[in-house]
Amino acid sequence: MRHLMSPLDFSVEEVAKVLDLASDIEKNPAKYAHACDGKVLATLFYEPSTRTRLSFESAMIHLGGQVLGFSSAASSSASKGESVSDTIRMISCYADICAMRHPKEGAPMVASAVSGIPVINAGDGGHQHPTQTLTDLMTIRSLKGRLDHITIGLCGDLKFGRTVHSLVKALVRYENVRFVFISPEELRIPSYIREEVLDANGQEYKEVERLEDVIGELDLLYMTRVQKERFFNEEDYVRLKDFYILNKEKMDLAKPDMLVLHPLPRVNEISVEVDNDPRAVYFKQVQYGVYVRMALILTLLEVNV
Ligand code: CP
Repeated sequence: MRHLMSPLDFSVEEVAKVLDLASDIEKNPAKYAHACDGKVLATLFYEPSTRTRLSFESAMIHLGGQVLGFSSAASSSASKGESVSDTIRMISCYADICAMRHPKEGAPMVASAVSGIPVINAGDGGHQHPTQTLTDLMTIRSLKGRLDHITIGLCGDLKFGRTVHSLVKALVRYENVRFVFISPEELRIPSYIREEVLDANGQEYKEVERLEDVIGELDLLYMTRVQKERFFNEEDYVRLKDFYILNKEKMDLAKPDMLVLHPLPRVNEISVEVDNDPRAVYFKQVQYGVYVRMALILTLLEVNV
């Protein structure tokens, strides 16, 4: 039985297989409509979510399966003190596969150690978000045609943004990927990513503060919101929350084929005037998230269609 905790749990070849399957699902949805008849997905969300939880649920429903779960710790017996380990033992009796989001880093890993069913990390604290990474990879591959030979700018809260940490880990495995990290000093990419992921792989990268200075050299711009829920004090959040606002003026400095991605939710960091720019693909990214999660459920349940 396999779980998905980190984007590195799949080899580059396995990622390609999942993305190929997701692309086939996109083209031939009817072929997969009963692939998970009789199967149940549990969504255990101890932290708020719109996209990840609902796209998992949509994915399982589109495969013919059913879903159950909870959307907050407060509405589960976690509020009475039940541990993650005990909870997953129960859920293993109710479902065939589970997606778990938790504010504590490593909580899905703890669950996977005692689980009787595959566990998918749907985001753990500021650590990892591997299914968002698969979504991002599918978006890039589908719309750019490749995952290698790209310059990607990651902009915003690079310290707490788990989607950024996961995406960097995944992309260092492809040839000639250049990273440009764009953040205020306080929200720089963590030193463990610089040392253990970038330096350890001999990866070329640079860190800058001003988006305007580098936007013209990017093939992809990955915008992120400042992660309010991970700040220790409100004052720091208020000071940093509008540090970057991508607007039409800045888009005019970008290449005509630069794509703008965002894991969403957006707060103020992308002006709504950018939404109609054909280079803004963050809502298409959401649709790819459903196909990729369908492919992941089939892969982990070992269902062949
Ligand atoms: N991208 C993402 O994880 O969104 P949600 O927090 O709404 O699930």
